[in-house]
Amino acid sequence: MCVSTKPKVLVFGSISVDNIWELSRIPRDHEKIDAKAMYTVVGGSGANTASWLSNFGHDVTLIGAVGDDVDSKWIISELESQKIKAKSIKRIKGKTANHAISLISGSTKRIIRQRNIDMKNISWGISELKTLINKVDHVHISSIESKTSEDISNIARSLNKSISIELNGHKMSAQRKNADVLFCNSIELKTIFNISISKLSSAGLAKMIPGFNGNLVVTNGANSVVAVTPHFKITEKVKKWGKIKDRTGAGDSFDAGFLSSWLTNSPENVSKAIKVGMATSASCVMNFGGQAK
Ligand SMILES: Nc1ncnc2c1ncn2[C@@H]1O[C@H](COP(=O)(O)OP(=O)(O)OP(=O)(O)O)[C@@H](O)[C@H]1O
Ligand SMILES: [Mg+2]
Repeated sequence: MCVSTKPKVLVFGSISVDNIWELSRIPRDHEKIDAKAMYTVVGGSGANTASWLSNFGHDVTLIGAVGDDVDSKWIISELESQKIKAKSIKRIKGKTANHAISLISGSTKRIIRQRNIDMKNISWGISELKTLINKVDHVHISSIESKTSEDISNIARSLNKSISIELNGHKMSAQRKNADVLFCNSIELKTIFNISISKLSSAGLAKMIPGFNGNLVVTNGANSVVAVTPHFKITEKVKKWGKIKDRTGAGDSFDAGFLSSWLTNSPENVSKAIKVGMATSASCVMNFGGQAK
């Protein structure tokens, strides 16, 4: 039996069914058009990052929530088929899985979400979290600002595990102080911290990650990625790899690629981690859906 020697990762984040409709254009009011194709895939930022980390050979445990309907059972089987440990995903009685519909036409994208399960209302016991976190090397919290994500970040810090946090539009004020790596995009940087990407500096890092020597990694779409560590700032340009089909999961897959490199190689090698992150998100955006193929 082949046992992975790569760092073990616990991911906490959202899980959904994504229905992706590829269209020649977005229909007008009352207009009917034929879709070019439709893809039904597992989505949600937690499930996407878990998928890419597992694809890199990490032992991945995912925590999140689904319902008890057919779609939820399908999600679990899809995750398990990717060797993601799904036992601690809560199955909420009487609920259907969260869904998202993406209408995609070239670079235009419209998303409709239906959230039956609000992760803010779902809690895990402290001792259950401690047991799960004790078994891994790294904890990644993806975009859920809740008491549980706060508990996870505090427990992981107390157990001396490394921690990454993806903001995805949330402030994560209570969780951020524990981050070794904080991920956001340039729009979130502006709206949450009122800082533009060009003004980032090591001196300003304490505002984003108070009280800890963490690293900030800011993606900026097809342009660049900027990382700020307590000692230096680094900017890498995004390469043009090929035709973009669907940007779903661009940030989630970037996080997975960055983390896989950062955890496996020397953590000081931020430049290499950014490059692996960019290559991972390039593979993601050249296909439909946010999961690893
Ligand atoms: N058009 C593109 N061409 C090539 N790479 C891209 C493109 N768009 C995004 N990427 C890659 O994906 C990474 C993350 O993209 P972006 O900054 O758009 O994240 P995001 O807005 O947080 O994404 P998400 O919607 O998944 O949260 C970028 O750093 C880049 O490497
Ligand atoms: Mg994002």
